[in-house]
Amino acid sequence: MSPFPIAVLASGSGSNLQAILDQLHGRGEVEVVGVGSDKVDAYALRRASEAELEARAFPAADFDEDRGRRDTALGDWIEALGAELVVLAGYMQLLSPEFVRRFRGRLINVHPSLLPSFTGLDAIGQALEYGVALTGVTVHFVDEGVDTGPIIMQRAVQVPPGRDRAALEREIHAVEHQLLPAVIELIASGQVRLGSGRRVEVSGP
Ligand code: GRF
Repeated sequence: MSPFPIAVLASGSGSNLQAILDQLHGRGEVEVVGVGSDKVDAYALRRASEAELEARAFPAADFDEDRGRRDTALGDWIEALGAELVVLAGYMQLLSPEFVRRFRGRLINVHPSLLPSFTGLDAIGQALEYGVALTGVTVHFVDEGVDTGPIIMQRAVQVPPGRDRAALEREIHAVEHQLLPAVIELIASGQVRLGSGRRVEVSGP
């Protein structure tokens, strides 16, 4: 069977992209067919080029700052690549509702909190500020809201009193680097299905 083709979108350093490349890409089951970004200088694009992957930036300025036009071009590019799943791995732009509908059930995101707590920017800082004893990582399908889509899988991370931010970030990123590839593998092998509403079925061992 040919590998399951995925596209990854990232705006920043791309450590989650790297985890996908190291753990899944080129091993027979999953193939990263393209890496897209809103930022021409995203380090994630450099990682993609180093791995000899198709990599492309879609800066807003190229589309007269029109999000709808940019997302249509992005979606056309992803479909032309033949990707069956779009993975948001630190993609810091809100996608248009049309894009979300176009890829419904084929669009996932990794977020550094236990949703529905701490949506949006700086979820780790929000959790520390709130003083929670437990936070974590969520991988979810994307809907039209901000970090509100149906949850596929979560993993908890303890926050001991006085936890230093850099240490918590390292721990959360390490969990992301395990959880995101694990969910992609499950999707690639047909073990995750988005049903009606928020219903997500995960089968397998
Ligand atoms: C991760 O913490 C992810 O959860 C969030 O953005 C960050 C991206 O990090 N959505 P990286 O670019 O993969 O290193």
